[in-house]
Amino acid sequence: MPSILVIGASRGIGLELVRQYLAAGWHVHATTRTPGKSLPLKGSLENLRMYTLDVRDSAQIRNLAEELSQSTFDVLIHNAAVHDGKEKEVMRINVEAPIELTEALLDNVSRSRQKKIVLMSSQMGARRGRSGKLDLYGESKARLNERFRELAPSLVKRNITAVVLHPGWVRTDMGGSSAPLSVAESVAGIKQVVENLNPQQHGSFLTWKGEIHPW
Ligand SMILES: NC(=O)c1ccc[n+]([C@@H]2O[C@H](COP(=O)([O-])OP(=O)(O)OC[C@H]3O[C@@H](n4cnc5c(N)ncnc54)[C@H](OP(=O)(O)O)[C@@H]3O)[C@@H](O)[C@H]2O)c1
Repeated sequence: MPSILVIGASRGIGLELVRQYLAAGWHVHATTRTPGKSLPLKGSLENLRMYTLDVRDSAQIRNLAEELSQSTFDVLIHNAAVHDGKEKEVMRINVEAPIELTEALLDNVSRSRQKKIVLMSSQMGARRGRSGKLDLYGESKARLNERFRELAPSLVKRNITAVVLHPGWVRTDMGGSSAPLSVAESVAGIKQVVENLNPQQHGSFLTWKGEIHPW
């Protein structure tokens, strides 16, 4: 049975990723920063393992990597992010943490059969060749994309396929109630993209439909 680790699973897209991968029979490992608070899930949870992680804290990332040192993940999805806040904190959560976590868990992914990593980005982070500054959230996702493109070549020798992904504009706390996509639709698309991910796509910016997104 394949396994997935979802970072940031308390609500929104992360929670729906847990729901849909559990429903598909995967071993699901998921983090939240609220220990003891169970996720609103139905059905059997015997394939779910939960961990506590606030991605702002490098020591917690190191401890999690240590705790998971014997685990193997076919798919790692770094989903946690914030839209607003002080610049330093938004950059820590949206840019530094996904890269730090990915680097800390590379062995867990490269030992697996599927070897896939998805970092949740956003269309708001697409510079599209323009030189002007984006808003804080967009700037954080643009920098995540840039850090990802620096990291990606080093993953080739481990046979890992990694992408940054725009999940669509989705009705969540972050996306708001007027967003056109439900979490179920977005995650069904993301799941399909992950399933079809192939080494030729390594280093790409994709949408939840599997299309190439412009940087
Ligand atoms: N919704 C959209 O339309 C949209 C569009 C483009 C991209 N995205 C991206 O998709 C991803 C998921 O978005 P969403 O709409 O599901 O957002 P959301 O509903 O606001 O959920 C954000 C998730 O990130 C977690 N998180 C935030 N700060 C954290 C921290 N310091 N440590 C650990 N976890 C933390 C939250 O946990 P807590 O519950 O503990 O706060 C929550 O689980 C994000 O990367 C977002 O940028 C979303």
